[in-house]
Amino acid sequence: MFRVSFLFIILGFACISCKSEDKKYTDTSKSNIDALLEARYEKFLDYNLDSLAFARSYSWGEKAIHKRPSKDWTSGFFAGNFWQIYMLTGKEVFKERAKLWTAFIEKEKLNSGTHDMGFKVFCSFGNGLKVEDNQEYKDIIVKSAQTLSTRYNPHIGSIRSWDFNRDKWQFPVIIDNMMNLELLFEATKISGDSTFHNIAVNHANTTLKNHFREDHSTWHVLDYDTISGQVRARVTHQGISDDSAWARGQAWAINGFTSVYRYTKDKKYLNRAIKTANFFINHSTLPEDGIPYWDFSHPNIPDISRDVSAATIVASALVELYQYTQNEAYLNYSKKVVQSLKTNTYILPKTLKIPFILDHSFGDWSKRAEMDEPIVYGDYYFLQTLLRLRDLNK
Ligand code: GLY
Repeated sequence: MFRVSFLFIILGFACISCKSEDKKYTDTSKSNIDALLEARYEKFLDYNLDSLAFARSYSWGEKAIHKRPSKDWTSGFFAGNFWQIYMLTGKEVFKERAKLWTAFIEKEKLNSGTHDMGFKVFCSFGNGLKVEDNQEYKDIIVKSAQTLSTRYNPHIGSIRSWDFNRDKWQFPVIIDNMMNLELLFEATKISGDSTFHNIAVNHANTTLKNHFREDHSTWHVLDYDTISGQVRARVTHQGISDDSAWARGQAWAINGFTSVYRYTKDKKYLNRAIKTANFFINHSTLPEDGIPYWDFSHPNIPDISRDVSAATIVASALVELYQYTQNEAYLNYSKKVVQSLKTNTYILPKTLKIPFILDHSFGDWSKRAEMDEPIVYGDYYFLQTLLRLRDLNK
C-alpha cells in the first residue's frame, strides 16, 4: 500500500513538472518562441564533432539520429546551419563549430561521382564566405565547380544528375539539380572563368525548355538520349507518380530559377520562378498554414504527411522573389510559413537533445525513408528564411 501511494506521489510530481514544461512550450508569445529557438540552437553545440557523422535526420521510430559522412548530399546543410545560427545570434561559438564542420567537407571538391556539389560545398563554404573573406574557401568553390563541370554534356546542354539506374536511364537530370547552379555562378565571379557561368546558363535553358508542364509544375526526372540529345522519358523518382507534382521538386524549381535570375537578370528565368511559385502558393490542396502535403497530386490528401522542407525552401526563395517583383503575395507566404513553423506543432521541444529545430519534413517516398521527421534541410532553409526576412527589414 505504501509503495502504491508513494508511486502516485512521484507520478503526481512528474506530471506537474511536465505540465509546466508544456505550458511554457504552448506559450506562443514572441519572447517565449525566441527562447525556444535559442534552446534548440544550443542543442547543436551538444552534438559531437565527427567527420563521419553529419546529422541528417531523426528517426522517431528508432529514437536515433541518422548520421552521414561528408559525401552524403546533405552534409553541407549541417555545416551551413552552424554558419546561419552564427549569423542570426552573433555567438562566436557557432562560428567556430561551423568552421570545423565545414573543413570536413573540403575533400568533396574532388568527388565527381555526384551532382550534389552545390548542396555540399556551397551551403557550407558559401555561407562561410558570407561571414568572412577567405581565399581558401574561394579556391575550394572554384575547384568544386571544375569537378562538377565534368558532369556537363554539351550535346544535351545539361549536368548529369545520377549515376545509378544505368539500365533504366541514359542521362538523368532531376529538377533538384537547379540548386547546383549558384555554385557555378559564384565560381565564375571568383575566378573570372566564364565556363562555369555558361554551363549554368545552358543547364537552366535546357531545364526551362523541357522540365515544365503546361500548368507550370515540374516533372522530377528527365532522361535524355545521349546520341540525339532529346528527352527519352519524363518520370518521377520521389513523387507519388510520374505525372504528379512532388512538393519538394516544385520548391527546388522555384528556388533554383530565382537564383538564376539573381545572377543573369534575364526575365525568362524570373517568369519561370513566378509561374511555378504561383502554382505552389495558390494550389487548391495547400493547407491554410502554408505547409504543403509532400506531393500536390497525391490521391490520399489530406491523409498524408506534410513536407516542412518544401515550405521552407519556397519561403526562402519567395523573400528574394518579392524583392524582384514587389508582389506582396510572395512575402506574405514567407511570413506565414515562419509564423506557422514557430509553433509547437513544428518546433521540437526544448528537452529533446538532438541538433534539429523543426519536425515534419518528408524525405524520400522511393526509399520509404525519413517520412515525417526532423530533417537537416528543412532547418537549413528555415534559418535562411529568417536571415532573409531580417535583412529585408534592415
Ligand atoms: N535530391 C534532393 C531531394 O531529395 O530533395
